[in-house]
Amino acid sequence: MLTKQEIKQLKEDKLDDLYAELKQSKDNRTIQFILENLGKLPDSFDGDILLPFLVHSHDDIRLWAVKNLGKIQDTQYLDVLSEVAQNDDDSMVRREAISSLGRMRDRKTIPVLLESLIDSDPKITLQAIRGLLVFKHTSKIEAELQQLQNHPNEMIQEVITRELSLNGKKSEIKYPHPMSPDSMKNTVVHGDVRDTLQVVPADSIHLTFTSPPYYNARDYSIYVSYEAYLDFLTDVFTEVHRVTKEGRFLIVNTSPVIVPRFSRAYASKRYPIPFDLHARLTSIDWEFIDDIVWAKPETSVKNRNAGFLQHRKPIAYKPNPVTEYLMVYRKKSEKLIDWNIKQYAFETIEQSKVGDGYETSNLWQIDPTFNKIHSAVFPNELCNRVIKYYSLVGDLVFDPFGGSGTLGKVAYELKRHFFLTEMDNTYFEHIKRSFGGQPLFDEFPPRFLSLDEFSQTVSNFETLFE
Ligand SMILES: C[S@@+](CC[C@H](N)C(=O)[O-])C[C@H]1O[C@@H](n2cnc3c(N)ncnc32)[C@H](O)[C@@H]1O
Repeated sequence: MLTKQEIKQLKEDKLDDLYAELKQSKDNRTIQFILENLGKLPDSFDGDILLPFLVHSHDDIRLWAVKNLGKIQDTQYLDVLSEVAQNDDDSMVRREAISSLGRMRDRKTIPVLLESLIDSDPKITLQAIRGLLVFKHTSKIEAELQQLQNHPNEMIQEVITRELSLNGKKSEIKYPHPMSPDSMKNTVVHGDVRDTLQVVPADSIHLTFTSPPYYNARDYSIYVSYEAYLDFLTDVFTEVHRVTKEGRFLIVNTSPVIVPRFSRAYASKRYPIPFDLHARLTSIDWEFIDDIVWAKPETSVKNRNAGFLQHRKPIAYKPNPVTEYLMVYRKKSEKLIDWNIKQYAFETIEQSKVGDGYETSNLWQIDPTFNKIHSAVFPNELCNRVIKYYSLVGDLVFDPFGGSGTLGKVAYELKRHFFLTEMDNTYFEHIKRSFGGQPLFDEFPPRFLSLDEFSQTVSNFETLFE
């Protein structure tokens, strides 16, 4: 069998020998290997050599033959490729044929591309859309593509909406991407997050990391029902979406919770908060990015296993829950993460780079932290990782359910600005005390405001800015 180097040599110096190898070979592996390794084809390459392979019994050989014909970008192969696009048994081969037709960028390909739009396989339709987008300024093609905006496939819908600018979104962005309002920097507001967010300008926040109340499993918030609890969180995260900058992140720490049983005649009830909240978040344009599992040592969690340890009866098995979720979402955007990064100055990117020893997996083993004042605080290390991996120096980092203020303290140490809201006066006062020793010469020393004071500051600042 020829080596890659030999194929390269033949392609450059002895094309006839290469053609002979392809014609004479009876071994599928050899044929596929040559076709796969042809690389960029010389101008003098004779595409006709590939034609017999378009009807080969082996799917991969047909696929590679089509790929190589596509590189030639010659309309003389339009008919044969159209035939493959319409009739091949294998959908990957058909898709490749449509891609090859698209590469021709020739109006003669339009009829077959249009026909491929109605394929039952979404990847064929997507490939045909790609080819047709070259002609989207023609009203006929635009009208044909527009019809796909209600296609059942979500990727097709997204591409059509974006490519034909059907989303009607106008940019309301007020601040350059790395900037945030000074009125919010290093500020803790005492009040209900829903009221506070009403006065926060759109596109202000770079990162939100939060651990919401655990439904009715702890004592600080009581909701009338689980549905009402999910509605409450949906309202909060809808507003968080509005105030988040384009394409930036929301990370929500939750875990299933148990609400104790009513009496011995009842079972306790377990609520799968991360999973139910997930559906709510994606429905309000938070795009799911990752699930990180925070694992704690088994000795640090409540033991639910004592009964089973004794009786060992199946079905009554109860594992100790040592994990919580950090669900990672991005504000849905047409822009890639690369765009977000490019908005920053070179020095900011350099200063923000994550050093060696960072966590490479989505399993984060971190000991929990216990605090006398607050029963559910973030460990510093959890905040440390989230802030370092999902924000840059100088960004504004938000926790709507501030609690003891851990996120704020770690953000401050990592040269980010923080913005926290906390409803409970004891916790608010606790955050205030814990920032007591911070230097006052900072450009934005920590501030602790009532909702009224905060509203006043924001409106003064906004007037100045306008
Ligand atoms: C799970 S704790 C967060 C703990 C925090 N991550 C920490 O490190 O200390 C949730 C917090 O949200 C607060 N909270 C509940 N409902 C709120 C609301 N509507 N607005 C603001 N804070 C609220 C509670 O008082 C509680 O301190």
